[in-house]
Amino acid sequence: MAEHDSISKVITILFLLFLLESSSGQLDPNYYYSSCPQISDIVKTTIESAIANDARLGASLLRLFFHDCFVNGCDGSVLLDDTPTFTGEKTANPNNGSLRGFEVIDHIKQAVEEACPGVVSCADILTIATRDSVVTLGGPYWDVKLGRRDSKGASLSKANKNLPASISNLSTLTSKFAAQGLSLKDMVAVEK
Ligand SMILES: *[C@@H]1O[C@H](CO)[C@@H](O)[C@H](O)[C@H]1NC(C)=O
Ligand SMILES: *[C@@H]1O[C@H](CO)[C@@H](O)[C@H](O)[C@H]1NC(C)=O
Repeated sequence: MAEHDSISKVITILFLLFLLESSSGQLDPNYYYSSCPQISDIVKTTIESAIANDARLGASLLRLFFHDCFVNGCDGSVLLDDTPTFTGEKTANPNNGSLRGFEVIDHIKQAVEEACPGVVSCADILTIATRDSVVTLGGPYWDVKLGRRDSKGASLSKANKNLPASISNLSTLTSKFAAQGLSLKDMVAVEK
């Protein structure tokens, strides 16, 4: 899907994913309160300067997060590079060549590792970066629940199967959203 017309859809998806997540009761907005209090400032300042340099990056990060979350949840699996012995999700059809923003997440991870080594997951960084992108672009603020573990695996086949394509028809979209626990009503809200 084209980034410019998908921002509001993705914001709604994120909000719905956030609701789904919060029902698990495992995550906590204050997860890094004592172990890495700098996390909020690091992400916010990095995102604000990244978007000041390239406004489109905010939408790109939203899309990166959504493409992470539709494959085994928001576990950072989309960030994993292919190696000779490992195939990640980056070359899935909906991702290959169109995902952007990896270097911003890397940049934040580097700064966070300097401030509090070995504490903050990349999955949480991507989640906060996405919220801050939305806010920086003038969208709503929401509390982000934290404490995700980074995935050690990825699924190219699920990325190809779960993510909607730009040419997906209504029935395909409906079933792909349903597979994420999102109803037809949710999807209609997303399309507004
Ligand atoms: C990904 O895109 C590159 C560059 O367009 C292409 O060479 C490669 O075959 C694609 N990979 C897959 C798995 O489609
Ligand atoms: C929608 O797309 C799917 C997958 O390409 C196809 O199997 C299905 O027949 C299509 N449905 C309609 C109503 O066009």
